[in-house]
Parts: sequence; structure tokens; C-alpha cells
Amino acid sequence: AAPSDIVSVRGDRPGPKFDKRLFGQFAEHLGTGIYGGIWVGPNSKIPNVRGYRSDVIEALKAIKVPVVRWPGGCFADEYHWREGIGPRGKRPVKVNTNWGGVTEDNAVGTHEFMDYSELLGAEAYVSGNVGSAPPREMAEWVEYMTSPTGSTLAKERAANGRKEPWKVPMFGIGNELWGCGGNMTPEYAADETRRYATFVKAPDGVPIMKVASGANAEDYNWTEVMMQKAGNAFSGIGVHYYTVPGSWEKKGAATGFDEEAWARTLAKTMKMEELLQGHSRIMDKYDPKKRVALLVDEWGTWYDQEPGSHPGFLYQQNSLRDAVVASLNLDIFARHADRVRGANIAQMVNVLQAMLLTDGNRMVKTPTYWVFDLYKGYQDGTVLPAEVSSHWYKNGGHELRAVSSSAVRGTDGVVHVALTNVDPNQPANVTVQLAGIAGGTVTGRILTGTTMDAHNTFDAPDVVKPVAFTGATLSGGTLSVTLPAKSVVMLDIR
Ligand code: AHR
Repeated sequence: AAPSDIVSVRGDRPGPKFDKRLFGQFAEHLGTGIYGGIWVGPNSKIPNVRGYRSDVIEALKAIKVPVVRWPGGCFADEYHWREGIGPRGKRPVKVNTNWGGVTEDNAVGTHEFMDYSELLGAEAYVSGNVGSAPPREMAEWVEYMTSPTGSTLAKERAANGRKEPWKVPMFGIGNELWGCGGNMTPEYAADETRRYATFVKAPDGVPIMKVASGANAEDYNWTEVMMQKAGNAFSGIGVHYYTVPGSWEKKGAATGFDEEAWARTLAKTMKMEELLQGHSRIMDKYDPKKRVALLVDEWGTWYDQEPGSHPGFLYQQNSLRDAVVASLNLDIFARHADRVRGANIAQMVNVLQAMLLTDGNRMVKTPTYWVFDLYKGYQDGTVLPAEVSSHWYKNGGHELRAVSSSAVRGTDGVVHVALTNVDPNQPANVTVQLAGIAGGTVTGRILTGTTMDAHNTFDAPDVVKPVAFTGATLSGGTLSVTLPAKSVVMLDIR
């Protein structure tokens, strides 16, 4: 018989908001993430809106992308915004030194990115250059984007086609200052953050969340020093954690893996829980009122690049395993939503754990995309604590709870309960006790596949796609659910 597990959803103890920014995306000038993936130019034969792929816009709007981080990543600390404005053909052509050494013609610059964000209905999270530009460059960029005045920079923006100022709700003070952003010590980075943040000035009544460059995974000392020395200079601080099944030298394949690699990957992704606890604990010391948000502004799987793809483009397939990674992380975010108020999966299109993959005029939605679709009712809803008592799933020396869950009361009052079974072989019988939740009907959708690496290709784009789920019954405030092996289920209680 399938093992039995219990989830208790505490509708009677509502928690913090599940900030919609937790579904944020990341679009870096890397590989075909921007060029080809988002932007094809207005003269392309690929259907587009002012140069942006129509299929990609439509797909991203359907999952309500709330925020996009741009232009990097490592690219941000070598980016000079002035090179990306003015007539497109006249912009300087640079070498993208971080990503493949290919040329970058700056066709997508500030106007194109901000226009794109508006098309998507998403907030802009712009990362400034601390590593290789003076504070003046950052200050002028912010003024160029946001100033409502008749200043020379505001007039230049208007001359380039945009009279009204844009909103820049989030602005990054550099990226990975401990690495590609300048190889700084935390003490030096804290001083630089204070200095640069001083010159990021929002016009009156236009809030900008200044985001400090955060720690690499478990580098707790980074958060400690940043919070202690510079905590009053920012209102958000990042943390980056990638799920790498193997080592950085040999990460492992995106598909064609065995069960040991499945278990290892999922066990490694659960480290996010410990990281959020650890960084939050430090932040609590310096900021007990939780004024500063912890933002997981880069997360996701990182595998060996697809055979035959350009080295440095970080192009990888995306399978059912990635879908499970996504749901486990979204459940973790729900448990830390009081402090963790934003996240940006790396990345949006064609790079790392992407939402979408494109090839010429074709596009596929990945299993990860479908998880974001399943969870979209969480956006800005209220977290209902979900206490899980589950058996363990074990393989090859790796172990994690077989069942993961989270729950949110959506802004429309519908209660969404997410359930994931990480066991690739065994179904689970889950009893979900609903406390303080009135509702008479349950409907659901499930994402699963026949193999652990089930994935969508350009020739077979609908192999992994949610379908209606009928394995849940609701009676007397209790849900009885038969959760198939390797599946992600979202139940809606009305
Ligand atoms: O997402 C790819 C890269 O990973 C980013 O540019 C960098 O910030 C991180 O190391």
C-alpha cells in the first residue's frame, strides 16, 4: 500500500503575504536569453510586437510575470547604460566577456527593456554597475529613467522616445560583488554599497527598493557584514543559490539521469530551506522589524550545457525534475515569506532553468513554466501554514521528505493547496486537514510524466503539461488525496 502522510493547513492561523515578487524572473544578456529568446527585432519574420517575440510575450503574460531582473547577473557590472540608448544601429558593439565572448550590439538597452516590462505588465528590477563604473554613472542612469523634470537627462530620454518617466521599483547595487562584480571582501563591498546607494535617488513619491548584492549560498559572514555595516543603506539584500547536482566542474546532465541523480538534485535543492533560515536569523539580529527583504534574486538548476550548444550560453533542457525543484522551492519560500519577499528564477528564456525555450520561430513551455502556472494563484495571497508529517524518500544515500506542501488563500478567497510527491516510484496517500477553511468543493490540476526526465521538445511540446486532477475528495474539512509518484498537484478549494 502507498505510505500515508498528513498535511495540516492552518486557515485559522493566517501568515504573511506571499509576495507576487517571489515569482520574479531574470533576463540577462547571456546566450540567447535576450537575443533570439525575447528580442528578434522589428524586421524579423518571427511574429513580434515592436521587436519582441509575440509567442514569448503571450506565454509570459499567461503566468503573470510580476518582475523581471535585468541586465545581469555578471553582465550588469560591465554594462554601461549609455551604450544602450540612441539609434540602434549606432550603438557600440561590445564583447560579452562573461558569456561566450560573443559580440553584443546593445540592441536591447534601457528603452527596450523598460518597454518590454510594460508590455508584460511586470515591474522592472534593474541592476546597476558597481564593479566597473563610478557612482555618477549609476546616479545618472536612475535620473535618466525616473526623472519627471525638464533636466537634460530627462529631455534626452524624451528625445529618445520616452517622455514620461518610468517606474523602477527595484534597483540592484551591483551583482555578486564577491565574484564577477568585483571580487570584493564583504567589508569593502559594504562600504561600496553605502557609497553607491547614496546616489541612487528616487524622485519624490517614487519608491525604489535598493537591493544590496547578497551572499553566495551559505556565506553567512557576507550577510552579517553587509547588515552590520550597510544595513541602513538598502531595503533588500539578495542571496544566490543554484541547485547543481554534481560539482561545478561536472554538474550533471539535464536529461538521461538515473534515480540517484534525481534524489541528489532534490536533496540539494532542499538546502534552500537551511539557507533562508540562516540568512534570516542574521537579518533578525540587525533588523528585527523585518524592514529589509531577503531576495533570492538568483535560483534554479544548473546542469552541464546541452551537447552541441555554444559554450558559455548555459542552454539546458528542462524536465519533470526541474518542475519538482521549482515546486519544492516555492513551498520553501512560503515558509519564509515574512522575510523572503522576492525571488528571481534563473532565467526566463533559453538560459539555465528556463520558463521557455526557443529555436528560430518555435517555442516550448517547460515543465518549470507549468509549475509557475499552477502556483500563480499564490500571487499576493496570504500564506496558510502547512504542517507536513511525511515519510522519507531515500535513494543512494540521499533523503528528503516524500511529500512537500504549502498553502495560500488567494486574493480572490480561493484556498490553494500545493502537494508534491518527490518519490519517482511510489504514490502517497495524503490526508489534508483543513482548519478554519470553509469550502465545499475541490478541483485540481496535476503535472507529472512517465519518466523522471520527461520533457517538452520543439517536436513534442506537450509531453509535460498540467491536466485535470481527480484524485482528491473533500469531506468534513478533510481532503483525501492519492498523490501519484513524481507529481506536482495544485488543489483549489472554494
Ligand atoms: O545566472 C548566471 C550567472 O550566475 C549570473 O550572471 C551570475 O550572477 C551568477 O553567478
